Amino acid sequence: MALWSGRFEQGVDAFTQRFGASLPIDKAMYKQDIAGSRAHANMLAAQGVIATDDAAAIGKGLEKIERSIDAGEFAFDINDEDIHMAVEKVLTADIGDAGARLHTGRSRNDQVATDARLFAKELCSELMAHNVSLRRALVAKAEEHFGTVMPGYTHMQHAQPVLFSHHMLAYFWMLTRDHVRLKAAFDAADVSPLGSAALAGTTYPLDRAMTAAELGFAGMTENSLDAVSDRDFLLDLDYACAVSMMHLSRLCEEIILWSSSEFGFITLSDKYSTGSSIMPQKKNPDFAELIRGKTGRVVGDLVGLLVTMKALPLAYNKDLQEDKGGAIDAAHTLADCLVCMDGMIETMRVNEGAMLEQAKKGFLAATDVADYLAKKGMPFRAAHEVVGNLVLLCEKRGCDLDDLALDDFKAASELFDDDIVSELDLESIVEARTTYGGTGHEAVRVQLERAHGVLERD
Ligand code: ARG
Repeated sequence: MALWSGRFEQGVDAFTQRFGASLPIDKAMYKQDIAGSRAHANMLAAQGVIATDDAAAIGKGLEKIERSIDAGEFAFDINDEDIHMAVEKVLTADIGDAGARLHTGRSRNDQVATDARLFAKELCSELMAHNVSLRRALVAKAEEHFGTVMPGYTHMQHAQPVLFSHHMLAYFWMLTRDHVRLKAAFDAADVSPLGSAALAGTTYPLDRAMTAAELGFAGMTENSLDAVSDRDFLLDLDYACAVSMMHLSRLCEEIILWSSSEFGFITLSDKYSTGSSIMPQKKNPDFAELIRGKTGRVVGDLVGLLVTMKALPLAYNKDLQEDKGGAIDAAHTLADCLVCMDGMIETMRVNEGAMLEQAKKGFLAATDVADYLAKKGMPFRAAHEVVGNLVLLCEKRGCDLDDLALDDFKAASELFDDDIVSELDLESIVEARTTYGGTGHEAVRVQLERAHGVLERD
């Protein structure tokens, strides 16, 4: 019989019992549920609502239950519906009336909100640690190959040469923002709803600040109706996960392209590749593809909860039970993907020669040649036109800008001199981009320093 069966004449149908149960998902929150119960019982005793002996018995009983779940010996019963009733039932069976007093001044509505917030905080902390670890791997790769020049792209067409380190650090900063978002989700969860009871607070003299402090919350919710029906903190977590997956999917896409024979920029470690069951030569970037694919599911987790929340009237509605599955899935998926990407980046081989080879193609010096003319007084638009014509000339001859003779340059403009030769050198082109945040060696050195500083903080 369910803990709420008093007003019923019949038990729930076996199918609806299973259908309505959240136990298969929320049993993951058993530690949080037990911590919440312990704090509630201690507070009830401190306020004289239950006897100190009862609180002590509850504490001991909960400890026993926690140990048995830890050991995988706890007999979960789907008829208990959720983790809250599963724990309470076994507790009461074990210690009798003291256990039956635990739910005084409490509802599963504030209980589940408390558990979910504690759980979300833990997930955020784990994700932040994985995020930092991957960012370290990106910085390490950037440092290992400092000075390597590769083509920078816009529209997937060769644009201007950049440092490979600069490209790696672009992902570092994306992931740094993900860390900020995860911390924001942590802070959103870090508010205690315990003591809101079913929806309206209670008549017992609860000390909400005491339970909040014992559970390590930074503050308390202000409105009991909002407290039991707010799942913004899970939306924040879902959103942080979805954005971070989107970032990983962009990196995956580049890894997949870069490891193709057309690019050959990187070689993935065998540990992060798979073969084909029919084509003996294949080495596939499966795991990058898988992360790219999982991004869809995590975005779905965010959208799913948003739609569940849409138009929900106050206060608790059973719809809210659909909140945890997606959030846990999003967090676990992101955690796995961060770990996988960390190893993939750390073990990948960077083929510096292939990058440089490609950087020599596609007239990557064109902007700098135009700048050369502009710096000698020609309006930039006119310079753009002159260099455009030179590129056309090269295309007709099937050569590159640095294959042109000085006379070819001079024929295009009087302003060209023999110092144009150094202007065409990829290394100097990169070096010259000294703008703060640009790809020049010095600017990237500053960037690396900033990255280390940020990692120190995170
Ligand atoms: N299993 C429920 C959930 O996950 C707990 C709260 C249920 N409250 C209720 N009144 N049915 O949301």
